[in-house]
Order: sequence, then C-alpha cells, then structure tokens
Amino acid sequence: MLSGIQPTADSFHFGNYLGALRQWVALQDDHDAFYCVVDLHAITVEYEPKALRERTRRSAAQLLAAGIDPERSTLFVQSQVPEHAQLAWALSCITGMGEASRMTQFKDKTAKGGADRATVGLFTYPILQAADILIYQADRVPVGEDQRQHVELTRDLAQRFNHRFGKTFRLPEAHIVKATAKIFDLQDPTAKMSKSSSSPAGIIDLLDEPKASAKKIRSAVTDSGRDVVFDVENKPGVANLLTIYSALTGRKISELEDEYAGRGYGDFKKDLADVVVEFVTPFREKALSYLDDPAQLDAILAAGAERARAVTAPTLAKVYDRLGF
Ligand code: ADP
Ligand code: NA
Repeated sequence: MLSGIQPTADSFHFGNYLGALRQWVALQDDHDAFYCVVDLHAITVEYEPKALRERTRRSAAQLLAAGIDPERSTLFVQSQVPEHAQLAWALSCITGMGEASRMTQFKDKTAKGGADRATVGLFTYPILQAADILIYQADRVPVGEDQRQHVELTRDLAQRFNHRFGKTFRLPEAHIVKATAKIFDLQDPTAKMSKSSSSPAGIIDLLDEPKASAKKIRSAVTDSGRDVVFDVENKPGVANLLTIYSALTGRKISELEDEYAGRGYGDFKKDLADVVVEFVTPFREKALSYLDDPAQLDAILAAGAERARAVTAPTLAKVYDRLGF
C-alpha cells in the first residue's frame, strides 16, 4: 500500500491530519505500507528550493510525530528514490495526449491562471503519480474521491504496459477512504480547511503554538443560536467543531450533543480548545524534537529510501528489460 503527501506548507493542518495522516497511522499495522513525501510533485508549480528542502523535512517530522513508525512502515522522500521519475518517463511514452488532457484536476488547478502558463510537469503529474503507485506493485491506494480518476489512469497504464510488453504490473485498487472526517474552515465553515484559505484564523496548523490554536477554536464562527447540535446545513460551524471534538477524543457526536445540551457554545468551545491543546502540545514537541536532530531525521529517511529502493530497483530493472533497454 502506498500513499504520498506534498511538502507544500511549513505545517500540515487539522484537515490533513484528520482527513489523511491519521488513516495512514491506522493502516500501517495491517499493511506493508509505503509513505512518501512527494517532493517531485511539489516542483510542478512555482516554488523556492530552500523552502522546499525545509518543508520536506518538516513534513517528515510531522509524519513521525503523527505516529508513522519507520519500523512498521517505509517512510521516505520521493526524490531519494530515483525509480519514481524513471518509471514516469516510460509511462509518459504510453500515455495518449487526449487521455492526459482528460484529467480534470489539471483543468481545476489551471482554471485561474490559464493552461498556457502551467508547466508540462503539472500536466503530466498524474503520470508521475501512476509511477509512484506502480513502482511498488501496490494493491491498495488510499485516496480521497478527488483522486479516483488518477487511480483509474494508473490502472489503464498498467494494463496497457502489460498488454504491450508482457505482464509486469499489478493492477492497483483505489481504496476510497470513507469515514474520514472532512474538516472545514473555522471562519468560513462552508469551505474546506485548506492551506490556501484566505484567513489564518480559519486553519489550525499542527505546528502552531498550542495557545494560538486554542484561541482559534474559541473564536471559531458559529451562529447566533446556543444549541450544540450536529446540523451541517443550518449550523456548519458547530457541526465542524463537533467533528473535530469527536475525531480527537473518539467520543460519539451524539454523546457530545447530550453533554452540552442546554449549556451554550461557550463551555463547548472552551472544552474543545482544551482537547485541541492536549493533542497539539505533545504532537508539536515530538515534531520539533525530530527537527532539532537533523542527523537522526536524515538517517530515518535514508533508511526509508533504502528500503523503498529494495522494491523499486527490481521493478524498474524488469521494466527496462521489457522496454528493450
Ligand atoms: P490543502 O487542501 O490544504 O492544499 P492537500 O490538498 O495538500 O491540502 O491535501 C493533503 C491531504 O489532506 C489529502 O489527503 C486531503 O484529502 C487531506 N485534506 C486536506 N484538507 C482536508 C480537509 N479540510 N478535511 C479533510 N481532509 C483534508
Ligand atoms: Na506495516
């Protein structure tokens, strides 16, 4: 099983954690899991090399702090495993232009700036993603609904390669992660919490000062009522806070509704602020301790890359042989 996350911010936010990283941690026990900081993907848009290097390290430190265990999972940085890019080139030579043009995420991502100003790398990004998956012969790819089309492309390319050059790749299944909490912006609870959100008060970053995160919870937009009930339509702000509360404590939403019945939003937000502080304080300390010890972090990532290459190098050798190299 393989999953990747882009190092495009200094800190992951609660949406990333509750919607993705937490599942990664849960999946590592029952799977031979490969978790990857996908820095090759991060250069498809404008970026600063210095910031990328820093963010890659910070991302890895946060994955470790979240509970990815380098003994039980293979945690690595994509650019340290060159077979990803090598396979991507081979796959790009069996991908049709029309086929690549149908990827809706490229259209979404370039809707504002226009496709003419986008890079070819952004256009062929789904092919690199296909390589990320196929180079591990992965069976399962835990992805959100928005990535389903890319997994379909991956299957098509694997099938085409096998048909043309002989059976080489296993066909992966998209494991659409249901039951993951979708977290909304604290200031605009109809929009998803995102690093590109306009208001920093709407996002809780995992590496924020715990006090600052508590304040963001206490200032979260709710509504003029006082009933703590889960009603996404009419009370999106309260519903979002209930989702976060439930996800962090493992308590049922109905149980939380009962506990706060008749008590108003003040108590509810204050308690949730405490819950958030209790979560982020040790998380942040752990992540920062990895960042304070660069040699240890480098060693973990180097060992991860080496383990990854034990899988990717034989796959690539087979691919090259099939291609006539
Ligand atoms: P962002 O929207 O901040 O740019 P990404 O698109 O880089 O975040 O998402 C990285 C991972 O985090 C993906 O698996 C995505 O599904 C998950 N994720 C991002 N935002 C949220 C959110 N608000 N709620 C739940 N999951 C999220
Ligand atoms: Na495992």
